[in-house]
Amino acid sequence: MAEVRVFLVSLLLLLLLFVSKILALKLGSRNLKPVVLEYHGVELSCIIEDGIVTSSPRIEWKKIRPGETSYVFFNNQVVGDLKNRADILSKPSLIIHNTSRTDTAIYRCEVADDIGNTLDEISIELIVQVKPVTPRCSVPNAVPVGKTAVLHCRENEGRPNSMYRWYRNSEPLPDNSKSNPKFVNSSFTLDPKTGTLVFSAMSKADTGHYYCIASNPAGSAKCDEQQLEVYDLNIAGIVCGALVVLLVLVLVILVICCAYRKGYFAKRKPSGKSYKTTEKPEGVNYLRTDNEGDFRHKSSFVI
Ligand SMILES: *[C@@H]1O[C@H](CO)[C@@H](O)[C@H](O)[C@H]1NC(C)=O
Ligand SMILES: *[C@@H]1O[C@H](CO)[C@@H](O)[C@H](O)[C@H]1NC(C)=O
Repeated sequence: MAEVRVFLVSLLLLLLLFVSKILALKLGSRNLKPVVLEYHGVELSCIIEDGIVTSSPRIEWKKIRPGETSYVFFNNQVVGDLKNRADILSKPSLIIHNTSRTDTAIYRCEVADDIGNTLDEISIELIVQVKPVTPRCSVPNAVPVGKTAVLHCRENEGRPNSMYRWYRNSEPLPDNSKSNPKFVNSSFTLDPKTGTLVFSAMSKADTGHYYCIASNPAGSAKCDEQQLEVYDLNIAGIVCGALVVLLVLVLVILVICCAYRKGYFAKRKPSGKSYKTTEKPEGVNYLRTDNEGDFRHKSSFVI
C-alpha cells in the first residue's frame, strides 16, 4: 500500500516537472535599450532562449508610455500607430521600419501558451533621437561698458534636449569666463542646458560676432552670427557737454534780461512791416479781426 502511494507521488512529481518544463520558457534580447535616429529602422529584439515551445505560443507586443498602454502586436497582426510601419520578423522580434519621435517608449514582448498563460515577458526601452533644428538666438546690438547683457539661444525639437555652446568670433566660450585666462577681460557665465549667456559687466573685449550651436547625440544646428558692440559711456564727456549747454543758456538769459532792462526791446519794437506799430495816427483805432488776419480801421473823431 505504502509503495503504491510513493509511486503515485513520484509519478505526480514527475508529471509536474514535465509540465513545468513545457511551460518554462525564457525570453532574451540582443539589445534591451535600442537607440535610433528618427526616420531610421530599428529592431526590438525578443528571442526565445530556451524551453520547449508549445504548439502555438501566443505573441503580444505592448507599448507602454506614462499613463497609457496600447497594443502594438495583437491577434497576429501589427495594430495601432505602428500599423504599416512595423513587422514581426523572426518571431517574436519586432522591426520598426521608419521610426517617429512618438515611438519613444517601453515595449513589452509577451509570450503566452495556447490557453493564455503568460510564459515570459521582457521590456525593451526604445529611444528615438531627433536632431536639433536651427536655434533662435537673441544678441543685443549695442551695450554700454559695465552694463549687464543676456544672450539667448533655444530650440525645442532635439531629442534628447539640446545642449548649447556660444561662440565669439568663431571661438567657443567656456561655461565660465574665469575658467580660462584667455577670457580674463570678460565676465560671463553660460548655462549649457538653457543656452543663456549672461554677462555681469560688459567690457570692450566683449565686442564681436556671436553665434550659438545647439547639439545632441543626433546632430547639431547653428544660428546666424550677430554683431554685438560694446561702447564707452563717457561720463566726463557727458558732464562737460551738459555744463557747456547750461553756460550758454545762462548767458543767453542774462543778455536778454539786460537788454530788456535797458529798454532795448521797447525802442526796437516798431520794426518796418510789423502791425505792432506805435506810429498810430491820431484818431484811428486799429482793431484786429481774427478771420481777416488783417486790420480794419475805423475812424473815430474825437473832438
Ligand atoms: C518616414 O516617415 C516620414 C514621415 O513620417 C516620411 O516623410 C519619410 O519619407 C519616411 N521615410 C521612409 C524611408 O519611408
Ligand atoms: C586684458 O586687458 C588688458 C588691459 O587692457 C590687456 O593688456 C590684456 O592683453 C587683455 N587680455 C586679454 C587676454 O585680452
